Amino acid sequence: MSDETVTLTVNRTGESHEFPVLHGTEGPGTIDISKLYGKTGLFTYDQGFVSTASCNSSITYIDGDEGILRYRGYPIEQLAAKCAYTEVAYLLMYGDLPNSEQHDKFVTDMHRYAMINESLTNFFKGFRYDSHPMAMMVGVMGSLSAFYHDSLDINNPEHREFSAQRMIAKVPTIAAAAYKRNNGEPFVYPRNEYEYCGNFLRMMFSTPCCDFKLDPVAERALNVLFILHADHEQNASTSTVRLAASSGANPFTCISAGIASLWGPAHGGANEAVLDMLHEIGDVKNIPAYIERAKDKDDPFRLMGFGHRVYKNYDPRAKIIREVADEVLERYVGEDTPLFDLARELERIALEDDYFVERKLYPNVDFYSGIIYRALGFPKNMFTPLFAIARTSGWVSHWMEMMDDPSNRIGRPRQLYDGEAERSHVAMQYRK
Ligand code: CMC
Repeated sequence: MSDETVTLTVNRTGESHEFPVLHGTEGPGTIDISKLYGKTGLFTYDQGFVSTASCNSSITYIDGDEGILRYRGYPIEQLAAKCAYTEVAYLLMYGDLPNSEQHDKFVTDMHRYAMINESLTNFFKGFRYDSHPMAMMVGVMGSLSAFYHDSLDINNPEHREFSAQRMIAKVPTIAAAAYKRNNGEPFVYPRNEYEYCGNFLRMMFSTPCCDFKLDPVAERALNVLFILHADHEQNASTSTVRLAASSGANPFTCISAGIASLWGPAHGGANEAVLDMLHEIGDVKNIPAYIERAKDKDDPFRLMGFGHRVYKNYDPRAKIIREVADEVLERYVGEDTPLFDLARELERIALEDDYFVERKLYPNVDFYSGIIYRALGFPKNMFTPLFAIARTSGWVSHWMEMMDDPSNRIGRPRQLYDGEAERSHVAMQYRK
């Protein structure tokens, strides 16, 4: 703990107050304003949490100016190149990369929990056949709160671990079942001889009428994409999970809330929106017109897959994804190659444009991911569910970290009230 402080002078009263500055392992200092209201009677105002740290965390570090992302201290580039997604999920949850014995046990646990209760097939059937898979995932993940009554004590660390593992293990099964519901195909059960990503691909694409052959290129690409999407510190969905959990809520419902938040187009829904945008642009010759629209403040159009609250440099995940896209598209040459070329040209033109340069708007993780997912055969409405599968390991790790912290308090932001001042009730016959 450093002795650094900041002094705030309230000009109206002339009073000065000191506040400690906290320093983590890395990153900017943080002014501890928890006593601000008590000392000054003032709140802080920071819409969208642009300058506010909402918690302590030792899971993920981002330096947005330098384009750095690390999980538990390991650079994302190394994890993406060398690890299985299950190793990274273990790392996020427990703080260290697993040795082979720990990894084997973790994978066995994943296999043990991968099936979902058979009664949930009825739940899926209750959805309209064309429901968005994210809508089904929000509902089905939340419904798991009605199961496992023997291990739902959130004050018991063992129970917390069971719940966290169950969610990581079951989320691919849930996403694949949502896809099958959309397609009117029978649900495919997980099989233990497959690894996490391979199992998911099999549950998605195998049908009773043809044998499934796992393509190692597809499995590797998915593995990398899942690692890149696994965590990103206090983003909107993770903060949603933390806020929901701060009241002591059931963990499955907290993750369901995270899935709901992820679905928005400004967050995980952007990968779907990027593909829509590329289709709408249609041809390289139309790019300048769309760049102009993105710059026009009277036009709601934005370049989807561009910009990030934290990264003011190239998103390190986008760099890795671009390389994966090269490999996947070489293998699956087809209708998507023009789309990829269009994306690359859009990136090139935007990165030379003053508007994007001045605002430090670079491609983010979602700019190329949709193109890869499509080349692998996923329909557009499965892009955000893929993100949700990967991010579940991050969400549950934050939930575990938070529940293990004795200083955890219910989250309760304040507001700047700008509604009516006090007024008196008027009987209905006299109201305008
Ligand atoms: N196209 C055009 N202008 C943009 C864009 C964009 N994609 N992104 C930001 N800007 C402009 C914005 O209009 C503003 O301009 P000005 O200063 O003149 O008012 C400036 O850049 C700063 O933008 P902001 O909206 O204040 O930035 P933010 O931090 O609130 O929003 C963002 C970040 C990611 C929501 C935003 O960049 C955006 O909407 N991007 C497109 C959606 C997208 O790709 N989302 C995925 C994010 S990465 C994955 C994830 O988080 O799930």
